[in-house]
Amino acid sequence: MDKALLSRTAAAMVAKGKGILAADESSGTCEKRFKSVNVECTEENRRSYRNLLFSTPGIEQYLSGVILFDETARQKAVDGSPIPQYLQKKGIVPGIKVDKGTADIPFTAGEKVTEGLDGLQKRMKEYFEMGCRFAKWRAVITIGEGIPTHTCIYANAHALARYAAICQEASIVPMIEPEVLLDGNHTAERSEEVHEATLRATYAALAAYNVSLEHLILKTSMVVSGKDNPRQASVEEVAERTVRVLKRTVPAAQPGIVFLSGGQSDEAATAHLSAMAAMPGLPWPLTFSYSRALQNPALKTWRGQAGNVAAAQKAFFHRAHMNGLASTGKWRAELEKQAA
Ligand code: 13P
Repeated sequence: MDKALLSRTAAAMVAKGKGILAADESSGTCEKRFKSVNVECTEENRRSYRNLLFSTPGIEQYLSGVILFDETARQKAVDGSPIPQYLQKKGIVPGIKVDKGTADIPFTAGEKVTEGLDGLQKRMKEYFEMGCRFAKWRAVITIGEGIPTHTCIYANAHALARYAAICQEASIVPMIEPEVLLDGNHTAERSEEVHEATLRATYAALAAYNVSLEHLILKTSMVVSGKDNPRQASVEEVAERTVRVLKRTVPAAQPGIVFLSGGQSDEAATAHLSAMAAMPGLPWPLTFSYSRALQNPALKTWRGQAGNVAAAQKAFFHRAHMNGLASTGKWRAELEKQAA
């Protein structure tokens, strides 16, 4: 365990004004996204699309890191070098999704636990050799009638903690992602309760497995209303509830917190981040680690056509720029300046 390297990596991931692109969609998820724009989900199309994102001119101004899927980490970049090396050359930290998706937890109403611990130590060594310096593991917590159960929260917290310890041992910074889904008709208040229970259990498990808080990044969902609830919490309410729950549960020793977008609109994800980052006295830097909220306009512009690459890159650059501003709390002021 190289603590100096872990510290450098974690600091680089949350560098001021930058954030992380999640480009680690599994082939199944990629298929769904490509289908929405009528693109066939072949290995070559996945490579072309990811390279469009990574080779966007100037994108390193706003991207500190990229989360890759295993297939992408083994593919070649636009200059022929392996993609992790290409990102490193641009000053972007390559990361890797290492979980293997979810399975049903027995004796629950279909709640999920994330798999992928078996053989992980060996896989981590290979990823380190490939140049990956951080990893991601996503746990899924669903809110509904009588759920999440304690069993679900407990099982996922322990898997996250075991994964995090294995990462740190291999000098790879663990990004732990307990995602509380926004699906359902629950209130923002209920979401806050579930976030609190989930994060408390996660940090208790991290302590039980001797995970070093100084070498860890939390990737969390925001406390929003369920998407089917007619009363949607305002930007201010989301910011207030999210920061309150994070302050209650996440130790200040941690180098930073990043957010997933989780199906929020592009602009909502940016507005929420900006409102939180503008709050005074935060103990950790906050930034983005979005997939959909960064990529949506680029994907819709690209549609699999080589002739649309430049326009798609422009759309991607714009969202990265807006979220870079949001991570310093300056997004709204910039919008108002532009409108004046
Ligand atoms: P979204 O921003 O689309 O939620 O994706 C982030 C992510 O990495 C989910 O695991």
